[in-house]
Amino acid sequence: MSLDLLITGGLVADGTGAPLRPADVGVSGDRLVLLPPGGGPADGGGARVIDATGLVVAPGFIDVHTHSDAVTLLGAAGRELAAAPVRMGVTVEICGNCGSSLFPALPERVPALRRSSRAGFGGDIPIFTDYAGFVRAHEEAPRSNHLTSLVGHGTLRAGVLGYEDRPATPAELATMCALLDDALAAGAAGLSTGLIYTPGTYGDTAEVVALARVAAGHGKPYVTHLRDEMSRVEEALEEAVEIARRSGAALHVSHHKTAGRHAWGKTTRTLPRIAELRAQGLDVTCDVYPYTEGSTSLSAMLPPWANDGGTEALLDRLRDPGQRDRMRRAIEEGVPGWENTVGNGGWDRISVACAARHPEAEGRTIAELGGDPVDTAAELLLAEDGEVTIISHSMREDDVQRVLAGEFTMIGSDGVPKPGHPHPRLAGTFPRVLGRYSREQGLFPLEVAVHKMTGLAADRFGLADRGVVRDGAHADLVLFDPETVSDGATYAEPLLPPTGITAVVVAGRLAVDEGRLTEDRPGRIIGR
Ligand code: ZN
Ligand code: CU
Repeated sequence: MSLDLLITGGLVADGTGAPLRPADVGVSGDRLVLLPPGGGPADGGGARVIDATGLVVAPGFIDVHTHSDAVTLLGAAGRELAAAPVRMGVTVEICGNCGSSLFPALPERVPALRRSSRAGFGGDIPIFTDYAGFVRAHEEAPRSNHLTSLVGHGTLRAGVLGYEDRPATPAELATMCALLDDALAAGAAGLSTGLIYTPGTYGDTAEVVALARVAAGHGKPYVTHLRDEMSRVEEALEEAVEIARRSGAALHVSHHKTAGRHAWGKTTRTLPRIAELRAQGLDVTCDVYPYTEGSTSLSAMLPPWANDGGTEALLDRLRDPGQRDRMRRAIEEGVPGWENTVGNGGWDRISVACAARHPEAEGRTIAELGGDPVDTAAELLLAEDGEVTIISHSMREDDVQRVLAGEFTMIGSDGVPKPGHPHPRLAGTFPRVLGRYSREQGLFPLEVAVHKMTGLAADRFGLADRGVVRDGAHADLVLFDPETVSDGATYAEPLLPPTGITAVVVAGRLAVDEGRLTEDRPGRIIGR
């Protein structure tokens, strides 16, 4: 067999969690050939030889939670942002998270969806009526790493009945189920919800059960941003469990956290609860990003009714002082069933991340910007046409570490590739787990960290022959220096690349070579 690439002298972390072992790794086409140390042709036999002495050779990292749906479709504007994940070793990204994907929708709903999805995806993005359209568009937008997408419940809902705050009719629900069924049959990776976001939050438990049943029929998971990650996080977890039980779908909890001072420490209850459910035979897992700050859109700080009808309706309300007063009261007093981030923390814990026309506001909290904070937030949203991303300083370090250490926890960056000052998790998550949490803090051994980033994730999302270094597996690899690997990205400089990631192989081709992004674009849309 002729090799295209031969990686010699490294220690293999094979993705299963097994201890590191010396082995040489060959690449033939887009598949791996495992060799004993020194077992390859002496001169490489024509293959490019990479000396990996002192390096770890691992399966390419699988980022189970991203919002990279549109970044390569934005062309030059998205190029630097699209590079961040692959530079940290990510060879597969799963997008379509938090209830938001670029498909499916009834044709007549597409314009409104495009309008209201801009804020989330950072530009004038396309919305596709079906999964095939999403795949076709990406075929013309070359990428460094692979991508697969979940079907977002919010998109599905807006794509059938718009942004209205009301239950779906039986006919509308049937249409949602049919669109979901088509997308999953065509290769989408599962169903996601974002139950704090409009319009997803307008859907009740029964609606999600009906949809999760469709996912279960395809053997694909139900992936959820819980209805509450703050004071009512335990109740929200139980809703997800009920949905899993009634639908038969496997459950995956996105970016598990217990945020806001009323929920700090609650991971001492949610994690044992998940372990208990697993012991009872329920298939439940979660992911996490290694930071105590979250990030979302500024509009999500407002009560659900404020967003009823979509972005235009929100902007109309923000122009009305009476409506602003109602919002102010809702934040002070709370609304049953609404997470209320600001009420749980305060405007001094919300800083502006991305505001295209107000770069001077980026990095400052809403409180620091001065004036009445609701007015300040409202004016900013109006001036930015609804497109403002924030960072919320809402978690506690011990909770983050507890979730990271869970044996059922995989890694998801929740990266939001938008210009400005996006959360550094976009460019730092994976090396930060390896450097800060595994090597420096000793939270888990290196091979366990790699397992969380690879084999565990591939199993959950049905990515066959990925997430593992073995003969015949897909040739997606990352080479890194275990002594130096660490994140570079900060809040001030969110796209600073990591240290210690020396090569990234995607489909047998070098996407990162000697620490630098190559011109090659071997990534494609994957999905069974
Ligand atoms: Zn989310
Ligand atoms: Cu997310």
